[in-house]
Amino acid sequence: MTLLHITGARPNFPKAAPVIAALAELGVRQRLIHTGQHYDDRMSEVFFRELNLPRPDANLGVGSGSHAQQTAALMIGLETEMVTTSPELVIVYGDVNSTLAAAIVAAKLNIPVAHVEAGLRSFDMTMPEEVNRRVTDALSQLLFVTSPDAIAHLAAEGADQESIHLVGNPMIDTLLAQVSRLDVDRARASVGVGEDYIVATLHRPGNVDDPQIAADLVAVVHDAAGLAEVVLPLHPRGRSTLEALGIGDHPRVHVVEPLGYLDFMSLVRGALAVITDSGGVQEETTVLGVPCLTLRPNTERPITISHGTNQLVTTHTLAGALAEQVAARRAMPDRLVSPTTVPPLWDGHAGPRIASIIVNWLDDRYGR
Ligand code: UD1
Ligand code: UDP
Repeated sequence: MTLLHITGARPNFPKAAPVIAALAELGVRQRLIHTGQHYDDRMSEVFFRELNLPRPDANLGVGSGSHAQQTAALMIGLETEMVTTSPELVIVYGDVNSTLAAAIVAAKLNIPVAHVEAGLRSFDMTMPEEVNRRVTDALSQLLFVTSPDAIAHLAAEGADQESIHLVGNPMIDTLLAQVSRLDVDRARASVGVGEDYIVATLHRPGNVDDPQIAADLVAVVHDAAGLAEVVLPLHPRGRSTLEALGIGDHPRVHVVEPLGYLDFMSLVRGALAVITDSGGVQEETTVLGVPCLTLRPNTERPITISHGTNQLVTTHTLAGALAEQVAARRAMPDRLVSPTTVPPLWDGHAGPRIASIIVNWLDDRYGR
């Protein structure tokens, strides 16, 4: 009996780590596949060095391409892998192209799929992730959800209630497992910022692909630097566009390579505020109690607004919201105090919950 975990892009790694560890504790045989969707050291390898993740059993080396090219290459590589290893269950994470491709291939081979982080919806079909989420959920037999709103979305789409499990958030398991290793001063020193700084991350196609939209973002990041130094670990998508628009041409904006998990989370932990369009960062800031200004018209993670520190902003509203949050943060005696309330079950135990549901499901289905 073998379970196959499919990872490939940066956000997959911190989500998969606690699930793999918890299944290993229960003695389940597992294979970890890295599709190679992300391949730079700072987008991939660094997570295997820093997090509790085994080496992948195979790296399919798929790399970059248009959606169709990349998804096709992913499907071809994953089909060979699944035909060769005949897993009893394929476990996919989040909403990236590797997730979608694995779900389609497994479904066509009649292999059941478990989707970790099911049911999130932005209701914005211009986002590639929304397409990936909807298709993956429609093809999955086990739907592990991180927030109650996701249950309602899946039910509305006709998912069998029995397949839906509210388990908490494995991304947060990883954060809570690593929080004692975070070192704000060391991370600050490594990027050369003082004690008062803002962290920014930008990589959504809707923000960084079109130079005209990206130019507005450059302007607001430069504006933010009027309040405090800004550290921007720049994702490879949009790097050339943002750099051509002069994102780094400001003495208080530090454009750096993507950071390893520990340096990144350390910087977030000690920040006055975070400006982002990332999915995961909206959740991590909620748990660390750091104000999060999300430069997007919508979010598939509204629980980070209702139960957390997140707010949606535009290039017009960012400056006002940021000034308010930064002033409140500067007035706090200790920035490192964690919030007392977080979304339900974001307690560091999602991995073990998922593992135990999977083992029971395997018992029922295969009489393991
Ligand atoms: C992908 C996910 C997105 C997720 C993001 C996390 C899809 C459709 N999108 O977006 O949901 O939020 O990862 O980081 O799966 N590149 C490199 N080095 C790398 C990887 C990528 O230089 O290691 C560059 C290439 O030019 C590539 C571009 O980044 O064409 C985009 O990479 P891709 O994996 O297609 O999508 P992301 O924008 O990274
Ligand atoms: N992250 C990191 N270094 C960085 C930026 C992000 O380690 O420089 C981590 C962080 O934990 C974040 C995760 O990578 O939540 C996924 O980030 P990304 O924004 O790429 O993906 P998304 O969540 O938007 O799909």
